[in-house]
Amino acid sequence: MSGDPYQDTRGNRDASIANPKGAGALRPSPGTGQVMDTGSAFLIGDTMTGGYGAGPDILHDCTIAVNPGEIAVIVGPNGAGKSTAMKAVFGMLNVRQGSVRLDGEDITSLSPQDRVSKGMGFVPQTSNIFTSMTVEENLEMGAFIRRDDFRSTMAQVYDLFPILKEKRNQAAGELSGGQRQQVAVGRALMTQPKVLMLDEPTAGVSPIVMDELFDRIIEVARTGIPILMVEQNARQALEIADKGYVLVQGRNAFTGTGKELLADPEVRKSFLGG
Ligand SMILES: Nc1ncnc2c1ncn2[C@@H]1O[C@H](COP(=O)(O)OP(=O)(O)OP(=O)(O)O)[C@@H](O)[C@H]1O
Ligand SMILES: [Mg+2]
Repeated sequence: MSGDPYQDTRGNRDASIANPKGAGALRPSPGTGQVMDTGSAFLIGDTMTGGYGAGPDILHDCTIAVNPGEIAVIVGPNGAGKSTAMKAVFGMLNVRQGSVRLDGEDITSLSPQDRVSKGMGFVPQTSNIFTSMTVEENLEMGAFIRRDDFRSTMAQVYDLFPILKEKRNQAAGELSGGQRQQVAVGRALMTQPKVLMLDEPTAGVSPIVMDELFDRIIEVARTGIPILMVEQNARQALEIADKGYVLVQGRNAFTGTGKELLADPEVRKSFLGG
């Protein structure tokens, strides 16, 4: 793929934050025409249908997936089911039809906790930090499933987000919106995930902070952790996306590379403001 976002010179190339047993090696993302060939995707919610409890179905044959070395972005109008699709992949929802697979293994029936143990990191859209705890305590909470020494991972998180090191003894609730999002992403990284799922990581931040967060997310992806994220800043997110999904009313409306979606007249008109 040309214009590979991982081939630029920004950030470090230290892969040690990534789970050594994880998706690992950076590979070029699949080219045009292969984007819906999700059969071998590293993480896939495959033709998922389901809703909350006994309520109506919110998702209808919805498929989202991400591969090693990729950033996959989900966009779509408010209420389209983007967060619901993420929650379904993370096991917080009853998936009545379809499946979720991680590295070839069917994990559809696993609890969210077990999915974390399998290597999934998830940053939800809301309530994604412990506001009364310090920054460092939040990161420690992230490492709760680990039995080994997590200090080197914490050092890597502080390398990635230097402001967090500076504020490590401050209550996370006192931080700015962008800094809180760094805490949330840092917390998820503490488990050394094989794949990271982010629901609107740039919600409520200024354009400058959004650019900074995207740079950090690209840096994380470059360490070998595939990233599946929902973004309301559709245009900017698709610019850094290897793969994009437009969801409408719980269904896949458009799928393609970030470039393809940005160039698609229908997508531009309906979802990108022309
Ligand atoms: N906990 C819940 N229980 C029941 N219905 C829910 C719940 N959460 C969301 N919904 C419904 O599911 C649908 C999709 O909501 P969802 O939050 O997934 O949309 P979204 O695309 O993430 O929107 P936004 O851009 O506003 O974050 C909506 O109709 C919403 O009312
Ligand atoms: Mg949402």
